[in-house]
Amino acid sequence: MKAPRVFVTADIGREAIQRLVDAGFEVDVHPEIEAPAYEQLAAKVESGLEALVTTIRDRIDDPLLAKGAAAGLKIVAQVAVGYDNVDVAAATRHRIPVANTPDVLSDATAEFAFFMMGDVARKLYPSEELVRSGRWGVWHPHHPWLGDNVAGKTVAVIGAGRIGKAFVHKCAGFDMDVLCYSRTRDERFASDVQRVMDLRAQLGFGPRRTIRYVDLDEALASADFVALHVPLIKAGPDATVHFMNEPRLRQMKRTAYLINTTRGPVVDEDALARVLLDGGIAGAALDVFAKEPLPMDSPLRDERLFLKLRLFNHLGSGTYQTRLSPDPNVGMAGRAVQSVIDRLNGADPAQMPWVVNRGSF
Ligand code: NAP
Ligand code: GLV
Repeated sequence: MKAPRVFVTADIGREAIQRLVDAGFEVDVHPEIEAPAYEQLAAKVESGLEALVTTIRDRIDDPLLAKGAAAGLKIVAQVAVGYDNVDVAAATRHRIPVANTPDVLSDATAEFAFFMMGDVARKLYPSEELVRSGRWGVWHPHHPWLGDNVAGKTVAVIGAGRIGKAFVHKCAGFDMDVLCYSRTRDERFASDVQRVMDLRAQLGFGPRRTIRYVDLDEALASADFVALHVPLIKAGPDATVHFMNEPRLRQMKRTAYLINTTRGPVVDEDALARVLLDGGIAGAALDVFAKEPLPMDSPLRDERLFLKLRLFNHLGSGTYQTRLSPDPNVGMAGRAVQSVIDRLNGADPAQMPWVVNRGSF
């Protein structure tokens, strides 16, 4: 019998790949750093793959999935929790399960978002740049600039899901007041965090802090930091494209900072550049962009924003352990290959925990 064929669109680490080989599959890994071209990917799918392991760089659309269905594709396993690059509705129509990698990356991404707050508010990168460039003249009480405290401030968490909640855990340890906004409320989570905050106050760590679910207007208008954790939804009543548009950016305090680790299109980047330039908010830190890598002509590259704006290369989940561990309970690579192994060994997609369209099987 011919071994089932698996195509992996990026090197997800030797150990995770080995798990696929050990499971008896014929494994083909795209060897380049750049993603495969769409046509190359479509040709692979058409050639009769049983599993396709994807990343956020791959466009998995209806025509590609139709080719896959005709050629026997049994699963698309995305090495990411976000899967806005995959047309899941089309996959469902073609009876192809789509798996993602939730939870294992929540802590890594949440701590990165947390560090982004510190970087932009305390001007860590400008400070290092000053030293490296030899432009640091002399110690001075407030020259050339100062930063803002993070501890003790109010943070708004927009989208208190897996990563949003992991982020709240870190903020509670930093004695921050927390405002949560989601369409549904997890009161148990809020009361557990409040108990931690109360204990910290009882032990004398600092003043009593609070966590509350609030509406979006209150979250935006009251917070010192606004951290975005909603998924990118491209269309429909729940769409989050330009969720942070100019009016919403201007609802924030002039002293507040925006933190984005979700997806670039969730923020209107042109509006953000305008609002930052005219002092509508104090600063922003972005790990994700509407177009990645960030185009050289992006308004976010305006030199006048250097002190206020920190830019990162979509690194939120980027630790060795989180990205590459072959263990499905630890790493994204492990979680994605586990879905492939389970599916190709006959698992029912309706019972597979990380299949996002399992309700349709
Ligand atoms: P999640 O558990 O599904 O959480 C998403 C949260 O957003 C939920 O609280 C959800 O609650 C809320 N939400 C969804 N749609 C909304 C809408 N239209 N308006 C307001 N709130 C909405 O997802 P997660 O695992 O935390 O991941 C979140 C996102 O982070 C991913 O989709 C991905 O894009 C991004 N991410 C980025 C990196 C990185 O490296 N930078 C790494 C991992 C993930 P309700 O449904 O109750 O509103
Ligand atoms: C990364 O951006 C992810 O969605 O996992």
